[in-house]
Amino acid sequence: MNAPLSILPPPPASAGAAGAIHPVTDTAAVIRFEGVEKTFPARSGSGAVSALTDVNLAVPEGAIVGVIGRSGAGKSTLIRLVNGLERPTAGRIVVDGTDITALSERGLRQARRSIGMIFQHFNLLARRTAFENVALPLEIAGIPAREIKSRVEPLLDLVGLADKRDRYPAELSGGQKQRVGIARALATRPRVLLSDEATSALDPETTNQILALLRKVNAELKLTVLLITHEMAVIKAVADRVAVLDGGRIVEDGSTFDIFARPQHPTTRSFLSALTGSTLPPHLADRLKPAHTPGAEAVVRIVFTGTHATDPVLSRVSRLLSIDINIIQAQVDDIAGQPFGVIVVSLPGDAATVAGVTNAIARLGLASEVIGYVS
Ligand SMILES: Nc1ncnc2c1ncn2[C@@H]1O[C@H](COP(=O)(O)OP(=O)(O)OP(=O)(O)O)[C@@H](O)[C@H]1O
Ligand SMILES: [Mg+2]
Repeated sequence: MNAPLSILPPPPASAGAAGAIHPVTDTAAVIRFEGVEKTFPARSGSGAVSALTDVNLAVPEGAIVGVIGRSGAGKSTLIRLVNGLERPTAGRIVVDGTDITALSERGLRQARRSIGMIFQHFNLLARRTAFENVALPLEIAGIPAREIKSRVEPLLDLVGLADKRDRYPAELSGGQKQRVGIARALATRPRVLLSDEATSALDPETTNQILALLRKVNAELKLTVLLITHEMAVIKAVADRVAVLDGGRIVEDGSTFDIFARPQHPTTRSFLSALTGSTLPPHLADRLKPAHTPGAEAVVRIVFTGTHATDPVLSRVSRLLSIDINIIQAQVDDIAGQPFGVIVVSLPGDAATVAGVTNAIARLGLASEVIGYVS
């Protein structure tokens, strides 16, 4: 087993689940979920499905907010509530000051022009070229042909597809198709972009290019983005904030940096353990014990954040306490533009030394936790 994060002690009762969630009061939010429930009614052969329970979430203006969850957690349901493709059973969703839940079908059609959406499988029309796919929402909105041309061409430039304007979807790569999808979603000049697993069908390099494009449109067009994913790497690459959805409930939310530095909920921890740098080498993970035995070494995970990322913290602690500290694993990363380092060390495992080290680290302003003992 190579998943040492799963052996972390449970979070203190005051933290995590309930503690992380606050009622939505932020009026600057462009999207707000307020006490949202969604239950799909029973059908012949299957009972009612409770897809979302008591969801409160605010997406601040101009932010990229990610929602991460496993298959069936309710992610697509959550995002489809924003553009009214689904209606909540209870609660409301406010988008750009408009209560989406109170709109008629006609009102919804109008509201959807300020809400763009991109999809895992791109959803392009096969018989339309790249240009014609991007033009479609403008045609539907009754915009004259000349104006359509003057709006679509800059969008194809923006997504880097000017030279593919007359290609059909079958002639485009997955990444290029998603670029068309993004340009189409932007055609009606929305304030909000919804992304439902938009990179899940792409290889890692193309994924990074598409995520970079999302960051670019977020910054250049001041677009607010709500994206759902099952990959922590996507969250890490683009999201300012993240909410973790588990069994239809938001079990943890906060800034991406805080969630990476101090994950509370077991589901969050298990998503993080899938990222490189969060798993221990197998030879060590297999030997890790939850309790100290005489002579055993403590294995401690230290998170270096912000300005501390390059500080010679270990040598200072080692000198201060006159002990040897062995580095088992170290990685410095970039999360939401901030340096973020995770380092795993072993040191003498007796309670006094461990307390001395963790206190010294805390005094330096860093987070650490004992993840087990090896002998
Ligand atoms: N139209 C529907 N009728 C009945 N149940 C539904 C419907 N849509 C979704 N569900 C159920 O609601 C729950 C959440 O589904 P949802 O599609 O939101 O999950 P998801 O997190 O997007 O999963 P995935 O990662 O597999 O796409 C699931 O149990 C699903 O079976
Ligand atoms: Mg889904």
